[in-house]
Amino acid sequence: MAKIIDGKMTSTAVREKIKRDVSKFTEETGKTPGLAVVIVGENPASQVYVRNKHKACGEVGIYSEVHELPESINEDELLALIDKLNSDKKINGILVQLPLPKHLDEEKVLLRIDPNKDVDAFHPVNVGKIMIGNFSFLPCTPAGVMELLKHYEINTSGRHCVIIGRSNIVGKPQAMLMLKENATVTICHSKTENLADITKQADILVAAVGRANFVKADMVKEGATVIDVGINRNAEGKLCGDVDFNEVEPIASYITPVPGGVGPMTITMLLKNTLTAAKEQYK
Ligand code: GUN
Repeated sequence: MAKIIDGKMTSTAVREKIKRDVSKFTEETGKTPGLAVVIVGENPASQVYVRNKHKACGEVGIYSEVHELPESINEDELLALIDKLNSDKKINGILVQLPLPKHLDEEKVLLRIDPNKDVDAFHPVNVGKIMIGNFSFLPCTPAGVMELLKHYEINTSGRHCVIIGRSNIVGKPQAMLMLKENATVTICHSKTENLADITKQADILVAAVGRANFVKADMVKEGATVIDVGINRNAEGKLCGDVDFNEVEPIASYITPVPGGVGPMTITMLLKNTLTAAKEQYK
């Protein structure tokens, strides 16, 4: 029987602290940290994420504005909005919700965001800073995973962390953050041979594959910590992770549920990054 890593409870505790820090910052500077969220088109999942980000900002005292742009917008118009936000003094953080519609060049758009306002840490300057271990912003999902491990006093130092998934948003930065905390890190992906042989060596296994119930009991070592970054829908349309929770939970020592595990931490880390951005810009 695994202990459940409760992302909702941890997130509430961390948000309380961020709320106090925002309030202190506002008292000391007379300024309110500000976030601009840009969403293009009508992807329903993105709309939910953006709504939740906006609501969470309000709850901790961060000003936020949502820019909803039609699917038909062209690249120049989107870049012009980013330029405007880059020079807007009341905006400390800018987030362009991904994915963007196919006709827009995601890389070009992310490159246009001022790295000092890049609260997603997707800009190559911030990615580079993460590589050398000297960063202001951490990408929200991997940072949320690290915060959960810290909260539950799960040590990474000297331990074998195996990550399934090599995306720029999760897998790669997750590896860097774990490496910084002295873990021995292995990244697996869709071309990895003998995947289960490797995942079975993990003291801490992070699943970021994007496939419902992909990780089965025979891929997990007895007593491992299992972190599920996936958010999928199963055949019945029910929300589920990348880990087959019912199979894996009896053999893990700690496990994150979906929903209620890593998910709630992601927005919390965005709030933290926005406050960090404001502190740096008003320094
Ligand atoms: N789409 C899914 N996750 C994210 C995220 O963390 N940031 C942005 N900007 N878009 C996303």
